[in-house]
Amino acid sequence: MRRQFIAFSILSLVAVGITYYLYWPPILWSLIVILPLILQGIYDLFQHKHTLRRNFPVLGVGRYLMEDLRPKIYQYFIESETDGTPINRMFRSIVYQRAKGALSTNPFGTKINVYQTGYEWANHSIMALNHEDLDPHPRTLVGGPDCKQPYSASIFNISAMSFGALSKNAILALNGGASKGGFAHNTGEGSISSYHLKYGGDLIWQIGTGHFGCRNEDGSFNGEKFREKALLNNVKMIEIKLSQGAKPGHGGILPAEKNTPEIAEIRGVEPYTRVDSPPTHKEFTNVEEMMFFIQKLRDLSDGKPIGFKLCVGNKLEFTDICIAMQNTGIKPDFITVDGGEGGTGAAPLEFSNSIGMPLRDGLAFVHDALQGYDLRKDIKLFASGKILTGFHMFRLFALGADACYSARGMMLSLGCIQALECHSNNCPTGIATQKNHLIKGLDVEDKINRTAKFHSETVKSFVEFMGATGVNSTHKIKRHHVYRRVSQDKIKTYAEIYPQVKIGEFV
Ligand SMILES: Cc1cc2nc3c(=O)[nH]c(=O)nc-3n(C[C@H](O)[C@H](O)[C@H](O)COP(=O)(O)O)c2cc1C
Ligand code: SF4
Repeated sequence: MRRQFIAFSILSLVAVGITYYLYWPPILWSLIVILPLILQGIYDLFQHKHTLRRNFPVLGVGRYLMEDLRPKIYQYFIESETDGTPINRMFRSIVYQRAKGALSTNPFGTKINVYQTGYEWANHSIMALNHEDLDPHPRTLVGGPDCKQPYSASIFNISAMSFGALSKNAILALNGGASKGGFAHNTGEGSISSYHLKYGGDLIWQIGTGHFGCRNEDGSFNGEKFREKALLNNVKMIEIKLSQGAKPGHGGILPAEKNTPEIAEIRGVEPYTRVDSPPTHKEFTNVEEMMFFIQKLRDLSDGKPIGFKLCVGNKLEFTDICIAMQNTGIKPDFITVDGGEGGTGAAPLEFSNSIGMPLRDGLAFVHDALQGYDLRKDIKLFASGKILTGFHMFRLFALGADACYSARGMMLSLGCIQALECHSNNCPTGIATQKNHLIKGLDVEDKINRTAKFHSETVKSFVEFMGATGVNSTHKIKRHHVYRRVSQDKIKTYAEIYPQVKIGEFV
């Protein structure tokens, strides 16, 4: 192919030259096409990175082009309703419809094969409740006995996503949506920026292992800086991040190209360098010290609710945490359980695919452990991991959640098209990029309405769903309400799959 390319280049140039010589100048226009091809071919011949392009100059580029276009062609022309990862078309569409306030009913029946193993559903009641008789905006009060400023949280909130992973316009729109809809916005580990404060939406300030926003130069925790931000009126709760489902045990990653001077200043790091948060917190080296850190944050924040987020890994470590709560008498006000199926701005593939317990298993375990050590009554449980619909919320309440978080659902409500470029700084929808020309396209006012609408329509669908099962409160949703087909001829309830632990059973 290399010889053919050289022959093609020489022959084309000679042919153009002869035609020009024979007094037909318009032939020069053909150089607009021929010259770039020849230049591309010469570049391909002399570059050393891609064998395919060296061996097949110009043509080899087509292969990379097709690789790039493949997901887009698949998404737009081939993908069925139940295809498409990480979030299939059916769920992407329902988020778009709810965010736009468009018709969100479906014609003709389910597209899911209800006989396939793994299919899950809830059984309705002949005593289904009237929608008007149900609380349209259920909330949960977070704050144990040591909390001085309990927070009444919506049952559906914006999960942690930092300014850095997301653009300023995305943060503005999410916080504006939270303010409009009366729900909470988790800052992610990238600290609090002016964009988190402009619309006054309730904030859950997340403290990651990098301590961004409350760190000394060497990355250690700075109590004074913490207190300054923790006392902000918008900050309603504080969440210590131990791990997230997409990369537990890794720590956050901010790619260098997304680390602009503004973001670097907020985080207290060098601009345009890749920022890797350490995998663990330096402030504590065992679970008891972790409890003392919780108490320290509680004192420094004048008693705001303090919790931690984790994806369940080693189960014994979690029971150790429960024992440490008993030994020290210090309890968090809430725990967020994230599932291995969770999303991220950037993570190594092995971590996303193969480390960390999936949400439903992790949540049931955490609820049961707290119940077994008789700690559950003082601690609220938040759940995150592909929660996009009312049924997704319902089955997690059955497993013990008090409230839910959504990250990617909220991104979809902002217009994310699942182009999967979040880590590359080239997000075409202006959500997960720091490039101004892309960010400009994201209309903040419009997206505020969409985020608020997605939230309210999802909560509404959950409340109606709950009413259909004859239940009038999230606390009354039990494991026996949810069914799973475990083989072609066997069905089990969650109560059978995740047997309940009695209160105080492990004490
Ligand atoms: C772009 C992006 C950035 C994220 N940043 C953080 C973060 O800073 N801290 C954190 O604990 N989780 C982070 N997450 C994880 C989410 O908060 C959430 O736990 C996870 O995505 C599961 O929710 P989902 O399935 O609704 O997306 C991020 C997720 C995404 C998609
Ligand atoms: S559109 Fe693509 S790059 Fe942008 S946030 Fe969505 S998945 Fe990430």
